[in-house]
Amino acid sequence: MKVIICGLGYVGVTAAACLIKDGHQVVGIDVNEAKVADVAAGRSPVSEPGVGDLLQQGVTEGRLETSTSVTDHLATADMTLICVGTPSDASGNLELGYILAVTQEIGAAIAAMEERAEPPLIVYRSTMPPGTMENTIIPALTDLAGPPGGKYEIAFNPEFLRESTAIADYYAPAKIVIGEREPGLSQQLRGLYADIDAPIFEMEFTAAEMVKLTDNSFHALKVAFANEIGRIALDLSVDPQNVIDAFLADTRLNISPAYFRPGGPFGGSCLPKDLRAVNALASSRGIQIPVIASALPSNAAHKSFLADRVMQQASPGDTILLLGLSFKSDTDDLRESPLIDLAETLIGKGIDLRIFDPDLKGRTLIGANLRFVEEHLPHLSRLLVEDISDVEAPALVIIGKPMKAVTERLDPSLSVINLSLL
Ligand SMILES: NC(=O)c1ccc[n+]([C@@H]2O[C@H](COP(=O)([O-])OP(=O)(O)OC[C@H]3O[C@@H](n4cnc5c(N)ncnc54)[C@H](O)[C@@H]3O)[C@@H](O)[C@H]2O)c1
Repeated sequence: MKVIICGLGYVGVTAAACLIKDGHQVVGIDVNEAKVADVAAGRSPVSEPGVGDLLQQGVTEGRLETSTSVTDHLATADMTLICVGTPSDASGNLELGYILAVTQEIGAAIAAMEERAEPPLIVYRSTMPPGTMENTIIPALTDLAGPPGGKYEIAFNPEFLRESTAIADYYAPAKIVIGEREPGLSQQLRGLYADIDAPIFEMEFTAAEMVKLTDNSFHALKVAFANEIGRIALDLSVDPQNVIDAFLADTRLNISPAYFRPGGPFGGSCLPKDLRAVNALASSRGIQIPVIASALPSNAAHKSFLADRVMQQASPGDTILLLGLSFKSDTDDLRESPLIDLAETLIGKGIDLRIFDPDLKGRTLIGANLRFVEEHLPHLSRLLVEDISDVEAPALVIIGKPMKAVTERLDPSLSVINLSLL
């Protein structure tokens, strides 16, 4: 394939080097003449192990051209990879100036090009804010060259490589994410990755754009979390790595998909209590742990978000059936259950609330569990129903936790919000 690469920075030259290695014809484009001159001479303009040798191979074998403009090459290329920078602007947003400039140039080149049986694929690899493909790129290209699907096709394919191991990461990615208008439209891109063994996620553009930012947010969160634990450990004269090693050994709950479910807030008798304990410990020792300290406020924000979502579908005086009250399935533990908070909020907003929880059926609450309920939902016995059939035509049903056998019996005409499936 003949592949144009726009932007010869870390991402662009790594792609150029790997495509040369894979036997493709590459055209490297950059507005920076010094970078173009480096690449034309088979030198890497950035320090990235292995890249220079492959660029040199491209020059020697006549498979690497360079230019400061995409215009003359687009008509003969199978695919264009856009790898220009998207630095932060003054307000923290990703700056789209370079992306827009290159998009204008490509749009004009497509407009001037004859229609081809196999239209060129324009692939955006730069990190962009969710919504950019739909709201900015497609309209800009459409204005200049008509809608995608005519003279050209487009895709978004975020890059996940790390500098210093970029070539190894290119050939062994954890995943390949392809955003496209419809699954399967970007065949050239699939051809590029045909020999790479990684799961491919085909997504809508905005979701694909969000994956990239989600990954980097989490990587930063991991570093910040590990450092906060490290600061506490050091202050306690404990080896931070010892603590982290034991933490990492739990691949069931810690380093795993467990708890990674957008939906319900956390609660129960342990997480809120022990988070308060870590906050108190750190503050008593003058240690700042803003990441860990933000977990409880974040959880409170999520509870408000859920209550607001429910109230968008209900009005004061409406009857709502809440399915579930204990903090998770198969336990009657009500302590700090987020569903108790939700129940309190809805009652406060004038909702006629009824609650059914199979985990509470026939249970007599005692001890701390009973005390918690008496404090937060003193009239619980009046709100609880024996079965969902006891509540006739509720305005809304809230599925607070999984209970398949119960939800399968719900009248399909009822309005339902499932908190675990936002
Ligand atoms: N560096 C990384 O490790 C990495 C990893 C994954 C994703 N990304 C993302 O990939 C994108 C590129 O990152 P980078 O680190 O390679 O950037 P970079 O700043 O190193 O390189 C970008 C290049 O684009 C060139 N450019 C600007 N406008 C151009 C135009 N109109 N035509 C042609 N070239 C143009 C610049 O001169 C520069 O050489 C960014 O969105 C970044 O967030 C970077």
